[in-house]
Amino acid sequence: MKEILLNVLCCPACAGDLRLKILASAEGEVKEGELACSSCGKVYKITNFIPRFVETDKYVGNFSFEWLFYRKTQLDSHNRSADSLKEFISKTGFSPADLKGRLILDVGCGTGRFMEIAGSEGGETVGVDLSFAVETAVENMRGRKNAHVVQADVFNLPFRPGVFDFIYSLGVLHHSADTKGAFDRLPSLLRTGGDISIWVYSNESRYEKVRNAFTDFYRFFTCRMPVRLLWWLCHISIPLYYLKKLRKFGAFLEMILPTCVHPNKDEMVLGTFDWYSPRYQYKHTYAEVENWFHAAGLKTRRLGVSVSVTGHK
Ligand SMILES: C[S@@+](CC[C@H](N)C(=O)[O-])C[C@H]1O[C@@H](n2cnc3c(N)ncnc32)[C@H](O)[C@@H]1O
Ligand SMILES: [Zn+2]
Repeated sequence: MKEILLNVLCCPACAGDLRLKILASAEGEVKEGELACSSCGKVYKITNFIPRFVETDKYVGNFSFEWLFYRKTQLDSHNRSADSLKEFISKTGFSPADLKGRLILDVGCGTGRFMEIAGSEGGETVGVDLSFAVETAVENMRGRKNAHVVQADVFNLPFRPGVFDFIYSLGVLHHSADTKGAFDRLPSLLRTGGDISIWVYSNESRYEKVRNAFTDFYRFFTCRMPVRLLWWLCHISIPLYYLKKLRKFGAFLEMILPTCVHPNKDEMVLGTFDWYSPRYQYKHTYAEVENWFHAAGLKTRRLGVSVSVTGHK
């Protein structure tokens, strides 16, 4: 943890100031230490460079497994691709140059693949995640002066109100027990004039509704399985990828048995595991999501990839 992060942190229990005690430093950062609340006295640990505001990864053990296994699979810097960059722009409406000099919060940062994009032109990024994906994110962000990683729950975030210029959360909020409730925690962290972008799974089209009904049926079993067993089962996506190239039959098969159809085999298994493993996975419509933004007093803009909405405070 970089000491400068203290400027945005506060106690998640009472919003009090946190006092830093350094137990070990490395690479100019706090490697081990404690953050003690000056109001309520609660103490939060810093281990492996990461301030920890949760004791466990609660209901996201699947994501701890996923992101500790596929550490770099989706990183543009690793793949020498622009896949995550294109995804970021299409789901937020912002390019890295727009974010220069802004303080940015990535809610549910996973491996940090979008942090490296948001920060690539001078944005200062804070990534927060409930799972042990934070171990991967901190490793992937190592050496970047403008990146910070925190382990915390979106329902109990340790940030001061009104500090962020831009907040984004891509593919995250629908994995909590209450998507709207999770969203509602975010607007107060945004300064007036700031922007917030979210992308959640879609239930817009008739095709998606049928596909989602099949998914939910399978998920009743798959999200209760041991993660390693499910991971092995997800290799079925590799032969299915070729079958799904058949025009009409492929589309039908995808509707009744959705699997990831990315051409890269690791991505296929990762994407399929990501679809079937989470404890919670809700789907939403534009109208529903826009209502959440409007109720929080935000002006909205729809982005092309459903369902992605950007709001302005
Ligand atoms: C599908 S992954 C997406 C990661 C990243 N946004 C990306 O697109 O690569 C969902 C992430 O949300 C995180 N997450 C789920 N519930 C959360 C919560 N209550 N608080 C913080 N993070 C959460 C998971 O741990 C996981 O890393
Ligand atoms: Zn406190």
